[in-house]
Amino acid sequence: MLVLGIETSCDETGVAVYDGRRGLLAHALHSQVALHDEYGGVVPELASRDHVRRLLPLVRAVAKAAGVRLEDLDAVAYTQGPGLAGALLVGAATACALARGLAVPAVPVHHLEAHLLSPLLAREAPGFPFLALLVSGGHTQLMRVAGVGRYELLGETRDDAAGEAFDKTAKLLGLGYPGGPAIAEAARGGDPKRFSLPRPLKGRAGCDFSFSGLKTAVRQTIAECPPRSDRDRADLAAAIELAICDSLVDRTTNAVAWFRRHYPQGSTLVAAGGVAANQRLRAQLSSLASAAGFDFVAPPPELCTDNGAMVAWAGLERLRLGLTDTLDAPVRPRWPLDGVGPTATAA
Ligand code: KG4
Ligand code: ZN
Repeated sequence: MLVLGIETSCDETGVAVYDGRRGLLAHALHSQVALHDEYGGVVPELASRDHVRRLLPLVRAVAKAAGVRLEDLDAVAYTQGPGLAGALLVGAATACALARGLAVPAVPVHHLEAHLLSPLLAREAPGFPFLALLVSGGHTQLMRVAGVGRYELLGETRDDAAGEAFDKTAKLLGLGYPGGPAIAEAARGGDPKRFSLPRPLKGRAGCDFSFSGLKTAVRQTIAECPPRSDRDRADLAAAIELAICDSLVDRTTNAVAWFRRHYPQGSTLVAAGGVAANQRLRAQLSSLASAAGFDFVAPPPELCTDNGAMVAWAGLERLRLGLTDTLDAPVRPRWPLDGVGPTATAA
């Protein structure tokens, strides 16, 4: 089965062609980072307009790179939500029109499900059940993944998401958007111990997260001791990166212990979502996993952040299992993952 995947939930236009037998044939991404740069965040209307401009040329380019004709496609998968309503509509309208024209199914995909299943694209794909840390710009969750469409939420953030914590503290430091890569870059060579920052909820039971206290502490630190040199900025960026990673790892440690007690047959820790591209986080999670006797799997960094490949893959998996949804809504800007559509055959 040959599936085209389309991702337009926020500020990246992502397109991919995935073949059920041969794997990922081609994928490409157009990032709008430069477009939103002067505004310090994503401007929804500009995002939608840019998706309109970029999407069809990207579809043609990816089909060409994959060596397939659009007529060869068996389905078109697209991100139905959650995300920016206008941006989602561009992807949904394009995908549904293409699918209708080609007389193949349009498969709506939940963006977080696509992130969550993306580690299955790896050569050494984890078996179910696995424990997943999903860390993106809008979500921070620990999940037990029992199968496609079978997710149990173990804990989530009570305030900001981990990616949001990176983005907001990067802004306070005068670094660009997105904040995660900017902080990681600025932190290189910095001393993470020079500034002491809180790790909210650290040492407490449970798997919830909290990052708003960290943001406040960074604001206070900058007010009391404004960074004047590259050295100051590097040390503060390193302290922020370490504080976020430590918080994520502390809560994940509790989840690993819980998972081991309840599901002795599963022993894989998976990280997915944009923040999982962070090298420090990957190293810390990998140590945690090996100390607990777990395998650690994360997609390659370029497939952690938003992309079309994860959408094509999730669409293919749903199609294979007969878990396709009816098109009762064109897009779902707000859509919790535990309500992720049919878990029984509905196609
Ligand atoms: O998954 P994603 O691309 O989009 C959402 O679904 O939100 O995640 C974007 C988030 C942003 O907050 C960005 O700052 C963060 O992922 N991010 C990173 C890194 N690359 C992206 N955070 C830390 N380190 C990185 N290398
Ligand atoms: Zn995402």
